[in-house]
Amino acid sequence: MKIKSKNVTTKKFYPLIFILFLLGDLFISQNVTAQEVESDPTVQNVMGRETVTLDGQWGVIIDPYETGYYDYRYQPSENGYFKDQKVRNPSDLIEYNFDTGPTLNVPGDWNTQDDQLFLYEGTVWYKRTFNYLPDENERQFIYFGAANYEAHVYLNGELVGHHIGGFTPFNIEVTDHLNDGENTLIVKVDNQRKREAVPTVNTDWWNYGGITRSVSLITVPDTFIEDYFIQLDPESSNTVKGWVQMNGSNRANQTLTIKIPEANIEKQVRTDEMGSAEVEFTVDLEKWSTKNPKLYDVILEMPEETIEDQIGFRTIRQKDGEILLNGEPIFLRGICIHESRPFGGGRANNSADAEVLLGWVKEMNGNYVRLAHYPHNEHMVRMADKMGILVWSEVPVYWTIQFENPEVYANAERQMREMVDRDHNRASVILWSLANETPRSEARFTFLSNLAEAVRELDSTRLVTAALETQSRVEGVIGIHDPMEEVVDVIGVNSYCGWYGNMPPEQCSDLRWESDSNKPVILSEFGGGALQGYHGDENERWTEEFQDAVYESNLEMIDNISFVRGTSPWLLKDFRSPRRLLPRFQDFWNRKGVISDEGLKKKAFFTIQDWYEQKIQEWE
Ligand code: GCU
Repeated sequence: MKIKSKNVTTKKFYPLIFILFLLGDLFISQNVTAQEVESDPTVQNVMGRETVTLDGQWGVIIDPYETGYYDYRYQPSENGYFKDQKVRNPSDLIEYNFDTGPTLNVPGDWNTQDDQLFLYEGTVWYKRTFNYLPDENERQFIYFGAANYEAHVYLNGELVGHHIGGFTPFNIEVTDHLNDGENTLIVKVDNQRKREAVPTVNTDWWNYGGITRSVSLITVPDTFIEDYFIQLDPESSNTVKGWVQMNGSNRANQTLTIKIPEANIEKQVRTDEMGSAEVEFTVDLEKWSTKNPKLYDVILEMPEETIEDQIGFRTIRQKDGEILLNGEPIFLRGICIHESRPFGGGRANNSADAEVLLGWVKEMNGNYVRLAHYPHNEHMVRMADKMGILVWSEVPVYWTIQFENPEVYANAERQMREMVDRDHNRASVILWSLANETPRSEARFTFLSNLAEAVRELDSTRLVTAALETQSRVEGVIGIHDPMEEVVDVIGVNSYCGWYGNMPPEQCSDLRWESDSNKPVILSEFGGGALQGYHGDENERWTEEFQDAVYESNLEMIDNISFVRGTSPWLLKDFRSPRRLLPRFQDFWNRKGVISDEGLKKKAFFTIQDWYEQKIQEWE
């Protein structure tokens, strides 16, 4: 809809109503800017709250030129031009319609729902109506599990929220914007890659766009339990230490009860002026571990509200080169995973997907996963809690982001905060990762050191890491040399001997490693590619035999590295990548999975399985 702005031109004969509508809209749009409606603080444990799902088929408008946002003078309208407008008079000019156009599934990326959108990067508008009868003693939030990359959220014609970042949840308070009855929710989602974004323009994964995770309407009392952190004190394994944060007019001096019925725990805490309360009590709980993923029902109760969560209690520390789970040294038998569905491509986004993916890790004798390179959906970490699989969770500070740009830092830190806020009660999550394969520089060191400080402030009970790639090789000895070794608790190293570079796979096992740090090291990436079902000589690239030879030799190499305390080969399953262009072998698939895109295991899967069996013998 092309709209003329203030200076009305020759078309004076526009019907009066229409002009009044325009003025009204311009007035509103002048008021609200995207920055002013950044999303509200994370509401903890949405899965344990009273919600109405907004998942399903949404009407969409594919808008490559952002016509619904910019007018022909490229002036943005913060309230957007695509309203739920109905043709009133046959002469009305309305050039869009959510109801007669295509639909897309939510949650879901648009790329795998419509072949036309497979390579699409740009804006898609989503519309959904829902009926709701708000209760005056309650408040409502709209919750998005994630939308890639930038989302403008409009409710009943008004901009109510804005979010940047494709892999973390955001919620928007809509209490004052809800109608009694039918409500219209419109979301502009734009996944255009930008140099100043996080991640930036070059990634080795598909830029799946859309409302990729579930959407729901949350109802809470006027004063509610916004967030809580209930974990064991890493220094004292029979002390539960944490906090509770209330939100609302009655948040001060509130009494709240924390119950763990199975352990006969019932503790009362009182909130301060800001609605927050410290939690600390001693109790001997059964420890969550990979062999015994014990979860307790934890109940938080206050007069207006009761929330229940399933929380595992464990401690995780690093000391003298060891990673200690509940005080015991552990070897992380892992694999890297991208957030794509088990069979075919597209974003995974439900617990069934998580169960299959983590089931394969179990089948591989694994006890650990590196969720690459961004926070995965909540189903994944909750399934890891249930299955006893340890988790490395990462923000998409990937390759060459703009380290000098303070807005880029603010964006990365916010994504980190949103990731930690969502998962800080998950026993399975033991490692917060700052970055992957970032080039050494002063600016990068400052950026990542600040990010490390920020995450430690948010959560001092977990370990901080990053996937580094900076190694030297002198006479067959690989040295890890990166200033970030000083900053992290656990050093992640990516190394592709036998695949990148010119060393033939069989020579990798002769390599020796040295580290000038006494911190534990995780081989956070290694491996090679193969087309499943393509067999031949082990010297021929893309055969399963070549990939398997790379693994055989690398695992032998790792057996000789005294300070390695974990491995996560790259990776569980073939995944879509716009950087993988070789016809027949790649065709936009990164083929380094040990399982194919159709879920078929390659030879190397079993080599890793056997090696992890040995590690179990050695360590357990
Ligand atoms: C890198 C990177 C991955 C990438 C992989 C590869 O190390 O971290 O994101 O997919 O190598 O080259 O396949």
